[in-house]
Amino acid sequence: MTAHVSDEVRDAPVFDGDPFSMEALNDPHHYDGLARELAPVVYVEKYDYYAITRFAELQKALRDWRRIGSADRPFYTPNPFRPTVLVLEDPPTHTISKNAAMAVLSGDNLKKFEPYFKEQAEKIIDEILADGPAEIDGFRDLSVRYVLKVFPDVLGLPEEGREALLAFGDGVFNVFGPANDFQKAKLARAAEAQDWIETNTDRELQKEGSIGADLYKMADEEKLSGEVAQQILKSIFSAGFDTTTASMASMLRAFADNPGEWEKLKANPDLVENAWEEAIRFYPASRYGGRIAKKEVVLGGIRIPEGGKILTMWLGAGRDGRQYQDPDEFRIDRDMSNGGHLSFGFGIHTCAGNLIARLEARTLLRAMLERIETIELVGEPRRALNYQAFGHEYVPIRLTPKKN
Ligand code: HEM
Repeated sequence: MTAHVSDEVRDAPVFDGDPFSMEALNDPHHYDGLARELAPVVYVEKYDYYAITRFAELQKALRDWRRIGSADRPFYTPNPFRPTVLVLEDPPTHTISKNAAMAVLSGDNLKKFEPYFKEQAEKIIDEILADGPAEIDGFRDLSVRYVLKVFPDVLGLPEEGREALLAFGDGVFNVFGPANDFQKAKLARAAEAQDWIETNTDRELQKEGSIGADLYKMADEEKLSGEVAQQILKSIFSAGFDTTTASMASMLRAFADNPGEWEKLKANPDLVENAWEEAIRFYPASRYGGRIAKKEVVLGGIRIPEGGKILTMWLGAGRDGRQYQDPDEFRIDRDMSNGGHLSFGFGIHTCAGNLIARLEARTLLRAMLERIETIELVGEPRRALNYQAFGHEYVPIRLTPKKN
């Protein structure tokens, strides 16, 4: 299959595994690692797409938005779950949506949320530890409880029905994969949540001072259309909950599996920021993104033809030994100065919610650090199965409080 186009440029070798089999979903680090070690770009014949597998080539590809666009991708069919803005747009329309999204998801808007996030993180952990050591499910009892409290509150969402955000996110992250019973079941669950999502992105329901109200205000000022404002809000709903709950639960697992790293953090609390970045390098919430080659491109000496559909494999790139020393080890003091990680993507589509996700996670981690002596695993964690998202649905841990 590897017909040579020239001495330097070759066709992508065929990866003949199935990245969407249940085995692969159970252990994507292994499967995406096999593809990565085969070549920087592989051709997945079964589904007719190219996967960019290694850190350096992926970063290079993500800079090249003129030739590697976002408006099409593997498994793409218009779908009611997927918001139409941002991740599926190219400039110039992407620039308008992104500027509007960043106006509400960064700067002063975030600073004003910080004290509230801190207060809630501390309250939740104090309640968990009220009677001493506590055995909890780190996913439901800590990560979901915290995220579904703080972020919907600042979005001005009603208390009732917030779980819909998780079901909806789970559906959105299963759209880009092969149609089968697994996908059907996920989309059916998301469909049940859709009414709640549609209702709560409605202009009339946005509370004064909330992110939604700020977006519609920009529409009134004619910086964007009302429809785009609603789609941006829907993007925040679809990408802002599954991801953060998953990554904070995965971080708890990483610490429970590596007690020495928790000790390291207690001894050096200044490592909080780096620890979180390492946690999402190690366990990213998103396994891949999608693109289309608008023109032929060559990456790492491998040709992707014009029209080739592409998956950008963030999860596998996060364990690329060419970029990271001992990539399969969780080390909170890892030197991230050489490009960090790609778990929030890179380039013009870098995660619009990365600042708020970082704020939520660091605030939780700081509150934990002040209160928790040890985090121990007390059972077998369970992975949440999803095509595009990576996470855990169950992380059984014992938290032992610090002595005052
Ligand atoms: C730890 C949590 C999160 C992770 C790991 C994550 C990951 C990512 C990644 C990898 C991308 C790039 C997609 C691509 O280039 O194809 C992305 C984009 C995006 N994320 Fe996140 N995300 C997280 C949290 C959030 C939150 C909290 C929000 C909303 C508040 C959000 C909203 C978005 C949006 C709107 C985009 C599209 C940006 C664009 O296309 O310009 N994400 N995210």
